[in-house]
Amino acid sequence: MKTRTIGALEVSAVGLGAMGFSHGYGPGPGEPEAIDLMRQAFDLGCTFFDTAEVYGAGANEELVGRALAPIRDQVVLATKFHPSTIDHEAGLGKQIRARLDASLSRLGTDHVELYYQHRVPDWLPVEDVAAVMGELIDEGKILGWGQSQATAAQIRRAHAVTPLTAIQNEYSIMERTFESDVIPACEALGIGFVPFSPLASGFLSGTVSADDRFTGDDVRRVITRFEPDNMRANQPLLDVLTAFAQEKGATPAQISLAWMLHKKDFIVPIPGSRRLERITENLGAADVELSGEEFDRIEAELAQIDLHGNRTDEDIAKLRNLD
Ligand SMILES: NC(=O)c1ccc[n+]([C@@H]2O[C@H](COP(=O)([O-])OP(=O)(O)OC[C@H]3O[C@@H](n4cnc5c(N)ncnc54)[C@H](OP(=O)(O)O)[C@@H]3O)[C@@H](O)[C@H]2O)c1
Repeated sequence: MKTRTIGALEVSAVGLGAMGFSHGYGPGPGEPEAIDLMRQAFDLGCTFFDTAEVYGAGANEELVGRALAPIRDQVVLATKFHPSTIDHEAGLGKQIRARLDASLSRLGTDHVELYYQHRVPDWLPVEDVAAVMGELIDEGKILGWGQSQATAAQIRRAHAVTPLTAIQNEYSIMERTFESDVIPACEALGIGFVPFSPLASGFLSGTVSADDRFTGDDVRRVITRFEPDNMRANQPLLDVLTAFAQEKGATPAQISLAWMLHKKDFIVPIPGSRRLERITENLGAADVELSGEEFDRIEAELAQIDLHGNRTDEDIAKLRNLD
């Protein structure tokens, strides 16, 4: 597996998002199978694993901790604290430290390589969080820090206080908002960019049908790119990806990941899957090299396509009001 550098961390060029094992995509496999899948991902060359305290209310961290225990010193482990329950008036450092300690306890480790702020709301000054993260780095509890769904302005302000290792924002062929400012800011400042939902929650694999129905906590119940009309309207995108995939002897998911790997050498996607053949396929995207001419042709074809639907936190919040 090829490696890439984000901040001072060396990681596999494609990582593994562990969220779906406990959260966000309906029922997952049982614990023994999930643990086995994560270890097989490592055997395939994956050294970058992503979780968060909110995934399954801590259950995902416990699962990831158990899976990675035998290989802990060989992987880069990332987790996140969510600021929604932080009281800024009540001692920020004490609260973030307590949240990190709880994550470390669930993960069964005394440090993580990367600790993200899961969302970056305006009411919580980024400089204050950055200062706490700097202390945690000094204490050796984290090796680096990041922000998720940050703006370029927030990144610049935070980085000036404590240099950032990585930004984890949504990015895929279907969600390119951050190309205009966040990715250039990361490039200018030497910060890694870690796209979440790099396969647009699986749409870009071409394996989801407009007739599929989703249950439980599956975000595809509420994110609008999976509304049947939008899925049908987005078929031209899958046609383009399928044609390129056939030309390259790859799959649409691999072309989607190879496309972003080609863009910048500090981009490291973290697709998530609960199936070995898909994990193998996604990690294999690191070996799908696009030539400059192929990349330009993909970009030109994508520029002709209108996209329908998106994925927003507001839509995902609607899941709480469904059965
Ligand atoms: N920072 C944040 O706010 C945030 C938000 C969302 C996610 N994340 C992180 O980013 C990671 C990735 O996000 P994501 O899970 O939404 O990414 P994703 O890979 O775009 O979507 C995952 C979905 O795609 C399917 N899938 C994956 N690879 C496939 C393939 N090769 N062929 C067919 N289907 C495939 C999975 O199904 P199966 O599992 O059934 O295979 C799952 O339903 C998460 O695990 C989490 O760690 C962070």
